[in-house]
Amino acid sequence: MNYETALYILTALVAVYIIRKVFMRLRLSRAKHPSLRGHVKWLRRITRLIPYFEYGDNYFFCSDGATESIAKKRRQGINNLRQLIRKKFPATVLFSASLENSLSDVRFTSAHKVPFPYRRYLHKELKLGSIVEETNGVKVKDIDGNWSYDLSGSYGVNVFGYDFYKDCIDRGSEKVKILGPVLGSYHPLIRKNVDKLRTVSGLDEVSFHMSGTEAVMQAVRLARYHTGKTHLVRLCGAYHGWWDGVQPGIGNQRKTNDVYTLSDLSKATLKVLTTRNDIACVLINPIQALHPNSDASSDATLINSTREANFNRGTYTKWLKNIRDICTRNNIVLIFDEVFTGFRLAHRGAQEYFNVQADMVTYGKTLGGGLPVGVVCGKSHLMKRFKDDAPVNISFARGTFNSHPYVMGAMNEFLNRIEEPDIQQLYHEADNLWNNRVARLNQRMEQKSIPIRIANLHSILTVLYTLPGRYNWMFQFYLKAEGLHLSWIGSGRMIMSLNYSEQDFNAIIDRFVLAAENMNTDGWWWQSPQLTNKAIKRMMLRDMVYARFPMLGNIMRGSVQECVRELTEEVHRG
Ligand SMILES: Cc1ncc(COP(=O)(O)O)c(C=O)c1O
Repeated sequence: MNYETALYILTALVAVYIIRKVFMRLRLSRAKHPSLRGHVKWLRRITRLIPYFEYGDNYFFCSDGATESIAKKRRQGINNLRQLIRKKFPATVLFSASLENSLSDVRFTSAHKVPFPYRRYLHKELKLGSIVEETNGVKVKDIDGNWSYDLSGSYGVNVFGYDFYKDCIDRGSEKVKILGPVLGSYHPLIRKNVDKLRTVSGLDEVSFHMSGTEAVMQAVRLARYHTGKTHLVRLCGAYHGWWDGVQPGIGNQRKTNDVYTLSDLSKATLKVLTTRNDIACVLINPIQALHPNSDASSDATLINSTREANFNRGTYTKWLKNIRDICTRNNIVLIFDEVFTGFRLAHRGAQEYFNVQADMVTYGKTLGGGLPVGVVCGKSHLMKRFKDDAPVNISFARGTFNSHPYVMGAMNEFLNRIEEPDIQQLYHEADNLWNNRVARLNQRMEQKSIPIRIANLHSILTVLYTLPGRYNWMFQFYLKAEGLHLSWIGSGRMIMSLNYSEQDFNAIIDRFVLAAENMNTDGWWWQSPQLTNKAIKRMMLRDMVYARFPMLGNIMRGSVQECVRELTEEVHRG
């Protein structure tokens, strides 16, 4: 072969290589969700540029262009809520305020209840707190003695009611108390827990950890170790704990270059899984079935009414089965992150609910019987932490508190109790029961022309707002006033325990409707033809730009106020 031919062949090979690379890259791009959520790195860059700005005393009430009389109603609404809070929750509010500068969790959560431009004014006017000291049935009592219905579900831990978990902890502690907190050795109860977990998961081996986050870290580490591949695939919007290895976007400062965030329910994603050879595992959080490609909606991001949720069991089952097949064919480890859905959707969790078997499953939350836990179950060859033929090539995972005897005790109670007929009956009925309850709640709201609908997956509910609005996040305060206890993310996720009786739920419906009627009366859902979701987004964007470039705001004369005035005038003319 002469020099020219060799050069020609080399150039052709390089060209083929480059074209293939570009093609693969384009394919990957196509598999990303078109929203910013699907482009997590860009999202992170962009969000860093968003400057702080706030809506002050007057603008707070008419940032949607509402008339003066509506603004007045809203102001009166806030006054009423403030008085009610002062009267009903004085000790709770004081106690929470005292923690705000010393407990970073409280500082964070109280600053992230509503969209940030409204935060400072609202915080000044409506101080809330969440200091509780007793539970009974589906209710929780704060330190002022108020009993509220619990819709928070303790982040999903509470599947069967707090009394159930009190029992698990008491009885479990009784079983292990003569051993105490001995670590490193195991209490014999571990045998029974491991056996039951193997049956529930349909997998060979188990490892115990201390939180869901840690269980996910371990599952992903093992998937990389055994496949020798670098990347994990997570689906757009899915939460898998606060480890930066599964949180490549907002919330984490480290650049994460070994994660692909791909679209849920997308053919392009399946194509990527089929064609790339660097994917070690696909991580699925089955709760995403309720709102594919969206985050668990916090009211802090509720800037308009575009929150979506739409669960279709058939479609999602088909999707999971497709992923299952592709993972099997391509040596990709399929991990179900069932920290939330495990032992809730069914006895065997999402694996049973959707009838799909994963290669590894992570559990947490409720499985600890009320105590902290994380668990990985997996196929034997994936769970092994060393290689027979490479003795120093290990996958290290230990943890001081793994398999803590008290956690083993409470877990044992939990795993025993859920096998009993009354709990099996609950599992059996739950899906229909919650679909019917949600349908009833929606019907009542429709009858009352309330611009709210609830979507649900089983016992997990989310509030959707059907008319464009900038103030939907106010709803959480009206719910609170009616004695409904939400988690800090507000109306985006309400997690119901399965011990809610019909009577309890009827009370929830009444209070929900009353809260919405009060909110409506106070003018927060005022409408105008110009007030579309798109227009709200534009207003927010414009405010951001003006805050970033104040000169521009000055040039545009009066910036935001001017625009509101224009909009108000338009509304009056229209
Ligand atoms: C699906 C999923 N994975 C992981 C985690 C993290 O678990 P933990 O908060 O126990 O670390 C959560 C927590 O909400 C979760 O819902």
